[in-house]
Amino acid sequence: MKDFDVAAVVTGGASGLGEATTRALAARGAAVTILDLQADRGEALAAELGGHTTFVRTDVTDEESVQAGIADATGKDRPLRIAVNCAGIGWAARTLGRDGSPHELAPFTRTVMVNLVGTFNVLRLAAAAMARTEPGADGERGVVVNTASIAAYDGQIGQIAYAASKGGIVGLTLPAARDLSSVGVRVCTIAPGLVDTPLLAGLPEEARTSLAAGIPFPRRLGRPEDFAELALAIVEHGYLNGEVVRMDAALRMAPR
Ligand SMILES: NC(=O)c1ccc[n+]([C@@H]2O[C@H](COP(=O)([O-])OP(=O)(O)OC[C@H]3O[C@@H](n4cnc5c(N)ncnc54)[C@H](O)[C@@H]3O)[C@@H](O)[C@H]2O)c1
Repeated sequence: MKDFDVAAVVTGGASGLGEATTRALAARGAAVTILDLQADRGEALAAELGGHTTFVRTDVTDEESVQAGIADATGKDRPLRIAVNCAGIGWAARTLGRDGSPHELAPFTRTVMVNLVGTFNVLRLAAAAMARTEPGADGERGVVVNTASIAAYDGQIGQIAYAASKGGIVGLTLPAARDLSSVGVRVCTIAPGLVDTPLLAGLPEEARTSLAAGIPFPRRLGRPEDFAELALAIVEHGYLNGEVVRMDAALRMAPR
């Protein structure tokens, strides 16, 4: 396999799907900048991977913060060509609680801010940096891979905020690809099913087992490495653009 002689940014790159992607990109020679809120994990991972991997503590919802992260990547000795958006948060509450009280507005706004607005913030700033690079084969300057969720399609009871935020990412994928076609930047989105990461580890073992039992095949939770492999495949496949790929072992989530 050929090496990625490019710079890359991975948001949420200190944990779970982002960490696996950081590791996979670094293993292929990319100079990765990890953008994450978790400084301890991010710094430890950058130190472990060494070489050209760096960590910049970043809040994806904040313009200056992301600009600083992108500046780290563009300051490296090779062009920024890869941005993978994995930063995200979960939230569970129903539109109306059992006692009839409405969903609080603040957590809905927060979830959309981090997952959707944060993704767009990184997408636009990374694309602006990629647009300033010299094009490679086929006129391509870079690729952005976003992370939605199958909750964008099969949102369960209590997933209203999360599903709305992920639905927004699905919705922006094609117009982003169209907007950025003039500068040769591709945009794709992965919609993972249930992947065994710290986000899911918060659930009791019983809940995790029952979740896995509902997955058609392979009958197991996804691994972060499954996601990283797909992200790299999208990066390498120059004709994939404007597409959302479900990675869920044929899981379709029930209402609850
Ligand atoms: N694990 C799953 O089953 C699953 C399924 C579908 C989608 N996803 C999505 O995949 C993405 C990664 O999830 P994960 O399971 O690896 O979770 P995770 O909690 O392990 O990692 C998420 C990372 O994002 C970082 N982050 C959160 N808010 C941030 C912010 N404002 N700025 C910068 N970084 C921030 C966290 O610090 C964390 O390191 C999320 O968008 C999640 O919604 C996960």
